[in-house]
Parts: sequence; C-alpha cells; structure tokens
Amino acid sequence: MNKLNSCAIVIFGASGDLTHLKIFPALFSLWDEKFFPENFFIVGFARTKMTDEEFRKTIIQSLNIYCRKKPVDEEDFADFSSRVYYLPSSYNDPESYKTLNSFINSKAKEYNIPKNIIYYFATPPSLYTIIIENLKGPSLVSDVYKGNCFIRIVVEKPFGYDYDSAQALNNKLLSVFNENQIYRIDHYLGKETVQNILAFRFANAVFEPVWNNKYIDHVQISALESIGVGVRAGYFDGAGIIRDMVQNHMMQLLSLVAIEPPALFDADDIRNEKVKLLKSIRPYSLNDIKDSVVRGQYDRGFIGGKQVVSYKEENNIPLSSITETYAALKLYIDNYRWAGIPFYLRSGKRLKTYKTEIAIYFKKLPHSLFGKETIEKIEQNAIIITIQPNEGIAIKIGAKSPGFKMQINPVNLEFSYKSSFKLTPPDAYERLLYDIIEGDQTLFARYDDMMIAWQFITGIIKGWLKLPEPGFPNYEAGSWGPKEADELLGKDNRAWNN
Ligand SMILES: NC(=O)c1ccc[n+]([C@@H]2O[C@H](COP(=O)([O-])OP(=O)(O)OC[C@H]3O[C@@H](n4cnc5c(N)ncnc54)[C@H](OP(=O)(O)O)[C@@H]3O)[C@@H](O)[C@H]2O)c1
Repeated sequence: MNKLNSCAIVIFGASGDLTHLKIFPALFSLWDEKFFPENFFIVGFARTKMTDEEFRKTIIQSLNIYCRKKPVDEEDFADFSSRVYYLPSSYNDPESYKTLNSFINSKAKEYNIPKNIIYYFATPPSLYTIIIENLKGPSLVSDVYKGNCFIRIVVEKPFGYDYDSAQALNNKLLSVFNENQIYRIDHYLGKETVQNILAFRFANAVFEPVWNNKYIDHVQISALESIGVGVRAGYFDGAGIIRDMVQNHMMQLLSLVAIEPPALFDADDIRNEKVKLLKSIRPYSLNDIKDSVVRGQYDRGFIGGKQVVSYKEENNIPLSSITETYAALKLYIDNYRWAGIPFYLRSGKRLKTYKTEIAIYFKKLPHSLFGKETIEKIEQNAIIITIQPNEGIAIKIGAKSPGFKMQINPVNLEFSYKSSFKLTPPDAYERLLYDIIEGDQTLFARYDDMMIAWQFITGIIKGWLKLPEPGFPNYEAGSWGPKEADELLGKDNRAWNN
C-alpha cells in the first residue's frame, strides 16, 4: 500500500464509544503498520472536559482492549499520540469551531502540512445537522478549495431513519459538500470477505457463466447474532432490525452478490452497477409484505446454556415495544440475470448462532444416473460465502462415499482466509479509514444507492403500520427465529442453511 496523504483528522464525539472501540484501534494499527501518512495530526472534539493527556490515556486504555495488536507498546503509543489532541467543545457553539479552525491552522503550520482535513462524525446522528451548519463557515470548509487540499466527511450509520429523513440528511450534507467528499460508512463493506465476493465472481472464469437464473435456484443471505441489544437498547428500539441491518448491510451484500460486472473496478463503475441492481428489486404490495416479510421479537430462552431475558425485559426497552429483533424477507430482482430467482434475506438477534453468510444454491439435477432413491438424497450444489466468524468460502458438492455401493454424500471444497493466507485480515475500520485517507470511495455508499435501499425498506415499514400489530414475542432466544421464517422457505420447498 502507498503512503497516504498528509492530513488532519477531526473526530466529533471523540469521548464516545465508537472512537474508542473502532476509530482509534484502526488509526493506531494503520500507523503502526506504516500505512499512515508520515505527517498527520488528530483532533478530538467533544463536550467532556479533558486535557490532551487525559484523552490520550483513555485512548491507550481502549487500544489495550480493542486493538488487533495488544498490548500496545508504550513508546510507540507515545510517538503516535504526540500528534493526538483534544478540544473540549460545544457542538452548537460557533466559538468552538473558531477555536478548532485556529488550532488546525496552527498545527498545519507547525507540522508543515497542507490543510487536508477529514471530519469524522462520531456523534449521535441528532448532532449531524448542527455540526454541518457550524462547519459551513469559510475557514473550515471552503478556504481549502483555493489550494490542492481536500476536505472529507465521514458519516456513520444510522444514515437517516426512513426515506425522508435520509433524504433530508443527504440534502443537508450536499448543501455544503460535494458527493465526492462524503464517505458514508457501512462497515460490512470494509470486511475482506465482502470485498472477496467481487474477486470470487469476477476473478474466476469458472463461476460467472453459471451466476444466473439458468443455474442458480435461489440465494440466501443471513446475518445472525446470538447477542441481544445490550447497551444499544435505546437506539435499537427506535430502529429495529430492518433499519439496523437490512437497509444497509444486507442490501449491500445483496448488491455485491447480484450486480452485473462493472466496466472497471472503481468507485463509480461499481456504484453505478449497484444502483441498477437495487432499482431492479421488485417493489412489494401490501399483500407481498404480508406474505413475503416475516418479523419477530425474541422471548426468554437459553444462549450457550445460560438463561437470557426476553427483548421486552431488557434494560431501557418498554414492555409495550413492538420493535422487531428479527426479519426475514423473500424478494425478486426483475432483470435478465435474476428473473424468477428468489433471494431470501434474514437477520436477527438472540439466535442460535452467530454467523453472516451468503448461500448460493444451484438447481437440482435434472436426472440422476444413480437411481430414483439417490436423486432424493443428492443435495443441491451450493456456494457458501462466510463473512463472519470463520471467513471463507465453501463449495458443496456430491461425492461418492467409500465402499461398494454408489452412495453420494455432500462434501465441502473449502477455502479459509486463515489457513490460506496465514494472516489476520485488517479490521473493517482499518480498511475504510485507509480508503478515506487515500480518497477512494469504492467501499462507501453513494447517495443514490442508499436512497433506493431506503425506498424499499420504507415501503416495508409503512406496510407494517397498515397491518395488524404483531403478536410479539414470537421466537425463543437461542432458536433459529420465528417459525413463520421457516415457512417462508418451506412453502417453496426450501429450507434455511442452518
Ligand atoms: N458504538 C459503536 O460500536 C457504533 C457502531 C456503528 C455505528 N455507530 C454510530 O457511530 C456514532 C457514534 O456512536 P457512539 O456509540 O460513539 O455514540 P455515543 O458514545 O453515544 O456518543 C458519542 C459522543 O457524542 C456525545 N454525545 C452523546 N449524546 C449526546 C447528546 N445527546 N448531545 C450532545 N452530545 C452527545 C458524547 O460526547 P460529549 O458528551 O463528550 O460531547 C459522546 O461521547 C453514532 O451515529 C452510532 O450510531 C456506533
């Protein structure tokens, strides 16, 4: 990888969880592995009163928990953190932004670097508009256009609450910045295995010819968690799994698995194909929502032998909550490649296992040479792309079992990241921050693909409001989810890859 551009990174909400759990561990790892610009400085901006030294202490404590390489060498950290500063500020006070501007100017001079700035919005989304309004001032945003400097904005999820609020946030951002300055984070796209979907499809001559409705029977995309809502209960109860997982991560996985080959492997070509794909998703009628979308909420149950409470019994969740902690949907992509092929998506919390995978099932054999009995037993070929936890790809084939009889059993041809490359892939945030500093938007959602995904999801949310209230809870913690989700595939004579 190249040495990156010198820059200042300003983190709004620097006293918070994301900064400590993800942003600094990623920044430090990049720096430690020499993938960072030589000349840089980082400014934390938040309300909590802290000195630079106190802030650095909170950072090293988090690195020692969350960094890939821990414990962190103290001398290395001292070297890195000598360029980490903290400004106790107020998000809605223009004076704080004036101070920030003077600080950036003086440090840029001291370190002799151009005024390249990355603004990372790591605050609750309710503050985004206030920050954008305050950044509008000439010195923090527009002055730099005079030179060859860059300004980049990093926005975390959730990006809006529904179509209208996402549109409003986009409009706000675009009233101050250009689309090519905006990096909307979907950390799934930073995962190696997710990027490998494109490599798998387009760097291997063997798969693309069968990647269509002639050979593929159906596709399943699962993002399952065994954890509950934890400390994010307040946020989650206002969002539900459909906004938290399906609108962003699952729609992105669906796009990558189904897009047409882009002209080039670059940001706009890939994102143009995603837009085409998402536009081809068949919209749901109210009846489709009833028949093709399942929602659920967990009841008490057992996870890993331990009893866990129901969703409504979690801290900060009202007893009357009808927020869904599980969703499964069947959808169709109306284009030449996928006509007639169902895509089944599911995501949920407090399930039997933790895994994110894409399972591509091929059509059944048209005829068996091995007698009537065996054809029933021969399983469909499938490609299983595991995104987490054991990153890799397996191809399920039928093979003859040893012995005198012609008996066919399913076996896996397997590729595992760990054993093939003998190294741990970088954390998704490392990859994404690297790309932000380098100015590569390939792995970030663009305005239009995000809005099409929101349109589809908002249709479901509005449809639910017109349907009778769901009878929650409807699945036990530690199970595979509501029985209706099994029936969704069952009525098509299919089953989830559990
Ligand atoms: N945490 C994660 O793992 C995670 C994962 C994915 C996405 N995200 C997204 O990343 C963003 C930041 O998440 P986070 O977990 O770091 O948030 P957080 O800890 O709740 O908030 C970050 C900081 O913002 C300030 N803040 C919080 N509530 C505020 C309020 N009502 N008014 C003014 N300031 C407030 C606080 O700093 P001061 O009081 O010091 O100003 C806080 O330390 C959110 O959009 C979140 O959805 C987080």
